[in-house]
Amino acid sequence: LYQQVYEQFREMIVKKRLRPGDRLPASRNLAKELGVSRVIISQAYELLLIEGYLVGKTGSGTFVAGKVPDTLLNAPAPANNKPKKITSVIASGDKLDIVPFQTGVPSIDAFPFKAWQQVAAKVLKNLKQYNLAYEDTLGYRPLREAIATYLRLSRAVHCEADQVVVVTGSQQGLNLITQCLLDKGDQVWMEDPGYPGASKCFANMGAQLCPVPVQEDGLDFQYAIKHYPDAKLVYLTPSHQFPMGCTLSASKRKQLLQWAKQHDSWILEDDYDSEFRYEGRPLASLQGMDTGSRVIYCGTFSKVLFPGLRLAYIVLPSVSLINKFKQVKNSVDRQSPILDQAILSKFMEEGYFLRHIRKMRLLYAERQTILIKLLREYLGKSVHISAAPSGMQLLLWLPNNINLVKFNEAIAMHQLAVAFVNDYALEHSRPPVISLGFTAFSKYKLKTGVEKLAQCIKEAQS
Ligand SMILES: Cc1ncc(COP(=O)(O)O)c(C=O)c1O
Repeated sequence: LYQQVYEQFREMIVKKRLRPGDRLPASRNLAKELGVSRVIISQAYELLLIEGYLVGKTGSGTFVAGKVPDTLLNAPAPANNKPKKITSVIASGDKLDIVPFQTGVPSIDAFPFKAWQQVAAKVLKNLKQYNLAYEDTLGYRPLREAIATYLRLSRAVHCEADQVVVVTGSQQGLNLITQCLLDKGDQVWMEDPGYPGASKCFANMGAQLCPVPVQEDGLDFQYAIKHYPDAKLVYLTPSHQFPMGCTLSASKRKQLLQWAKQHDSWILEDDYDSEFRYEGRPLASLQGMDTGSRVIYCGTFSKVLFPGLRLAYIVLPSVSLINKFKQVKNSVDRQSPILDQAILSKFMEEGYFLRHIRKMRLLYAERQTILIKLLREYLGKSVHISAAPSGMQLLLWLPNNINLVKFNEAIAMHQLAVAFVNDYALEHSRPPVISLGFTAFSKYKLKTGVEKLAQCIKEAQS
């Protein structure tokens, strides 16, 4: 009842039926008039007084305040406030439906929602235990510990928690690395084709992108030292090259580390999806082989958990770099959100994280096998498939006689998501190869997707 009285008065004040300075009826009289207890009226007045709609003058009554709080809280509308028409432009970063064969998306339907919710509830229940004030810029300590333990065991990364920096997605990590280590005009070796999230970041800083072709055993090292001998940084995805899927060979790893040590250059190892290896043991990281403290290691929870979490990490090789990163991260966003970090660290400590990775490995291996079988069944020998026993996507070489304009029209018509490897190329383009993601799709979706894809190829062949 007191809420109703409160609402009615508030509305009268906001709509200016009651004006600043107007006197409100005495609570005793109003209670009598409305046939309610005086306590109800007093409670409603009390709330309006607390929120600033009323002012009370002892002995002389209760009045509408000079300035209504709503006018203080709401920003004034600009003089010409006609709503602007916004034309819709889809850019990378916009929300899109997940349709076959979108790449790099984990299976959200297999996410352990219950476990995540239970852990989150525990964290919220014990909120007092977490520091809700500003936290360490480098990340919530228990999460840094959990990440270091995981990386030492699973990825043979040499690291202690002190070297780990928690970042808001690898994209922020890449930006921080760029800001801390590169100057305008610095040369950066980029795998070609390679990850556009990284090349855009370096280019934004004014670095000189140096495209290095990718061979079957990874980046062409000889080409790179011949064409760009003074590179300051090498960006690469050695465990599972993005988007070609190959692995950097042991001999190239050694040569690269040696070269970086001699030239005081940095190596940025982006280990974005190496958890998903379907045969044998996971490959050791390049960072684990580094004796010259030249490798900065970067990993993300976007693939192993979910991209909306926006948590990732970088592992730095030296104390001087840690201090520099701390300063820069502090000026960018001070820290990543503490509650998300606390939930994630508990999720890892309680064993759910590793269990989820084990389950996803089996599920993704099965989905990859299903996709290969379906492609063979529907497309026969007209296409070449290349699938490493790892990762979240495979490659399909389109037939030579394909008309790409027609193919793209058909893909759009059938609402498929297909990425061309050439879209990731900087300089060295190839015959038409497409990348097909399989991790986020059930057997049924893969089947209908392949049926449509086969139809698109048929329509585009001349
Ligand atoms: C090579 C590579 N690195 C990193 C990421 C993930 O970035 P983030 O942690 O910002 O989601 C991706 C996502 O597609 C990727 O392909």
